[in-house]
Amino acid sequence: MENNTHPKKPHAVLFPYPLQGHVIPSVPLAVKLASNGFTITFINTHFIHHQIKISQPNPTDNDDIFSEARKSGLDIRYQVIGDGFPLGFDRSLNHDLFWEVFPKVFPTHVEELLDDMVPSSEPPLTCLIADTFFTFFSMIAAKYNLVNISFWTEPALVLTLYYHMDLLKENGHFDSPDNRKDVITYIPGVPAIEPKDLMSYLQATDTSTTVHQILNKAFSDVKKSDFILINTVQELEPNTISALQEKQPTFAIGPIFPSGFSKSIVATNMWSESDCSQWLSTKRNGSVLYVSFGSYAHASKKDIEEIAYGLSLSKVNFIWVLRPDIVSSDETDILPVGFEDKIKGRGLIVTWCCQIEVLSHPAIGGFITHCGWNSILESIWCRIPLLAYPLLTDQFTNRKLVVDDWKIGINLVDNKPITREEVSEKINRLMGGKSRGELMKKIEEARNTLENALSHSGSSENNFSQFVSELKVKIE
Ligand code: UDX
Repeated sequence: MENNTHPKKPHAVLFPYPLQGHVIPSVPLAVKLASNGFTITFINTHFIHHQIKISQPNPTDNDDIFSEARKSGLDIRYQVIGDGFPLGFDRSLNHDLFWEVFPKVFPTHVEELLDDMVPSSEPPLTCLIADTFFTFFSMIAAKYNLVNISFWTEPALVLTLYYHMDLLKENGHFDSPDNRKDVITYIPGVPAIEPKDLMSYLQATDTSTTVHQILNKAFSDVKKSDFILINTVQELEPNTISALQEKQPTFAIGPIFPSGFSKSIVATNMWSESDCSQWLSTKRNGSVLYVSFGSYAHASKKDIEEIAYGLSLSKVNFIWVLRPDIVSSDETDILPVGFEDKIKGRGLIVTWCCQIEVLSHPAIGGFITHCGWNSILESIWCRIPLLAYPLLTDQFTNRKLVVDDWKIGINLVDNKPITREEVSEKINRLMGGKSRGELMKKIEEARNTLENALSHSGSSENNFSQFVSELKVKIE
């Protein structure tokens, strides 16, 4: 790259994956980089942009999600590009079609954008940061001579398992007609993992699906990146991260939260939030269970019913986020008849809320979670022990970390099928049982680990600085 007497100001174009759980950590990453002297051009798809806008209480045409951040002096630019479908297309209902078409059409939109941007941008564009799930950014980085940074929004354990899909395949634990069921002991940095704790996509018997094509391409593409940034903490996953570092420059820089961990100056939510604070303020400290299955996973109507009965039997106060599409069928009445009357006063049902605000409220004492990685990090930060109920993808692997390794949570269900009696028993065990003391001790330790990592000379801050210095050497 061109030599200059003045150090180049890094200018990164940042592409979050167009899903809620991926946009959420990408936004504070952009803010963190901009706070450290980067110019950032953040690219949302038209659909994500529109959803975030209409979910705001007072949307205005001229503002974008970084308008406030810009007022505080950060150089964050914002652009919107198409994802191949019209705005009104229901991406959740037509999930398979969307994920089949999107990876084929999106590269063209990205190239059109960069054809415009690269010749004229000031400061010149030097690097690109793209979510690891994208399948084609090594080609783009090479075409425009940009440093290629892969951003991984899940734990290092999940990354390393995908990274070593070939080993799992060679050993017959993945992609064989009859996948082996014994413990896996040959993945670098992972002493042992049971096949049931692999991500759902690696447990599947049919691997001819669109998602498997995406995984194969994405995890071959990441091997060509110059740097990998992970939203995790070195001390939480030391061996896994060290093993990855032997393969490629890898930096654990998490947890990446909005600054101040309260309502951010940057909006990221795609659905309107219900305000829970008034309701929570009427409840005793530590007495409310928060229940949420994130932005993406679905559950069966039967399981939702058992959870509802379990909540009712437990007699515990709760807030339950029930997205309208939580049950993937067309069912509208997913709760048992009379449920809402039964739980009046002690249960609040909403379709979406500001989760970090709810978890930060002193009334919250426990969290039934699908084990999405953002939810786990947020819960640790707020010292809220977990009841783990994984549904899809990385959530099974994240459960292992929460329950088996870090012991900051317990399983909601030990043996399927889920029953209301077990749900009620586990809720009471989490909220007030004998094991609560031990869970609280462990969650406090985990919180300290996160806090130390983010402190002035903590591992995540050091890793971030190290990444910035190595990047600057590369772009000079
Ligand atoms: C998915 C994966 O499961 C996750 O592991 C991966 O890192 C990203 O893609 P999702 O299922 O949405 O994400 O779960 P999670 O990672 O927990 O993210 C959900 C986010 O939405 C959290 O940041 C949470 O604070 C937020 N949220 C959720 C709200 O703000 N309000 C809600 O009502 C529910």
